[in-house]
Amino acid sequence: MPSTSTDARTPPVAVWQLLEKLRGKDLVDWRVAPLDDRPSIAERNLDIGFPFGWYAIEQVDFVKQGEVKPLRYFDMDLAIWRGEDGKVRLMDAWCRHMGAHMGHGGKVHGNLLECPFHAWRYDGEEGVVVEIPYSKSIPPQVKRKCTRTWPVTEANGWIWTWYHPDASVAPMWDVHVHEEYGDPDWTPYDMHEWIIYGSIQNMAENGVDVAHFQYIHGTAGLPDAELRWGEWGRGADVKARMGTPKGMVDGLISYDTMGPGQSWVRFRGIAETLLVASLVPISEDVLRVRYGFTQPKSQAEGPGAGVAKALIRDVCKQLDQDKVIWDRMKFETQAIICEGDGPIARFRDWYSRYYARPEGDPGLRAVG
Ligand code: FES
Ligand SMILES: [Fe+2]
Repeated sequence: MPSTSTDARTPPVAVWQLLEKLRGKDLVDWRVAPLDDRPSIAERNLDIGFPFGWYAIEQVDFVKQGEVKPLRYFDMDLAIWRGEDGKVRLMDAWCRHMGAHMGHGGKVHGNLLECPFHAWRYDGEEGVVVEIPYSKSIPPQVKRKCTRTWPVTEANGWIWTWYHPDASVAPMWDVHVHEEYGDPDWTPYDMHEWIIYGSIQNMAENGVDVAHFQYIHGTAGLPDAELRWGEWGRGADVKARMGTPKGMVDGLISYDTMGPGQSWVRFRGIAETLLVASLVPISEDVLRVRYGFTQPKSQAEGPGAGVAKALIRDVCKQLDQDKVIWDRMKFETQAIICEGDGPIARFRDWYSRYYARPEGDPGLRAVG
C-alpha cells in the first residue's frame, strides 16, 4: 500500500542497491520479468489456495465483440469471449468432448463459444453444450451443466470475475463502482504493471505493517492512520504531511478494499488522484498487479501536472521496493510480533474470512 511520503524524491532505503540501477525501460521490464530461481510454493507456505472474491482480470477492451482469448488465472486455464450481445463470458478452457483448449482458435457463434476441434457450441452462462453441427443428438452428459462458468461483470474499465474454490458459491458482495471512471473531467488510466512472486495476502498485509514504511520506503510510518474494518472490505484514512518540490503540504490518503481483489486509494491535498488497483493471482506464488491512476484533467494538464506525475512515480516506486521483499519472502505462520509492528495479528484474523475452510480450521491467523 502506498504510504505517506516525506519527499517524492526520497531515495529508497534497504532495496536501493537493486533499484538504483534500473531506469526507464529496464525498470518496466524488471517489474514483470521471470524469477526462475525462487523457492518452492510449499517451502514458502504459500500452498493455501486463493481467497474468494471479485477480481479485475482484464481491462474492458481486452476482448472485443466476437473475439475469444485464452486466460490463465487461479491456476486454471480459461476461455473468455464477448458475444454478439456485447456481454463477456468466461468459462473453463477445456472442451468436454475431447479436451481441446477453446481459448486457442475457438470462435464466437452468436453468443456461444464454438470449440475449434469439432465445433461443439457452449452456452457460457449455463455451461451446457447447445449445438453440435455434425450430430443429430447431444449427449445427455453435456446437455446439463458440464463445465464451470464464471460470474462476470464490467465496472471501472475492468472485466471482473468472481472466484470461489467452490464453483457453486454465488457472489457474496458487489464490485464497488468508481464514478471517476469515464467522467470526461478525469484522465484515462495511466497504467503500470508488475508480476509479484508472492501471495495476495502478503501484499494486503503491507498496509498495516507500520514499521516497514521507514525501512523499505524511507517514509514515516502511518501517522494518524484511522483503520476501518468492515464486513468484506477494510480501509484507512491517513493524514500526512507530504514533501513536494514546493515544500510540505497537508495531504489525506484513503485506501479501501472490497474483498481481496479490489482495492483503491484516493490522494487529496498534494495532487488529487484515484488509484484503481487490480490484483489477481495467476498461481499460488505469482500475482499480477496493475495500477491505473486517474486524475482531474484540470490538474493533470495544468500547472500542477509535474506534481501530479511525481505522485504517480512515487507510488509506483513504493511498489517496486515492496516487490523486492515479496518476491522471495515466505509466509511466516508464526510471525513474532513486537511493539510498534502495527495490527498484524488483527489483520490476519480479519483476512482469514476470505478463505473457504472447514469449521475449526484457523487458516492463516496464526501469529507467534
Ligand atoms: S474437442 Fe471440442 S468439439 Fe471436440
Ligand atoms: Fe509497502
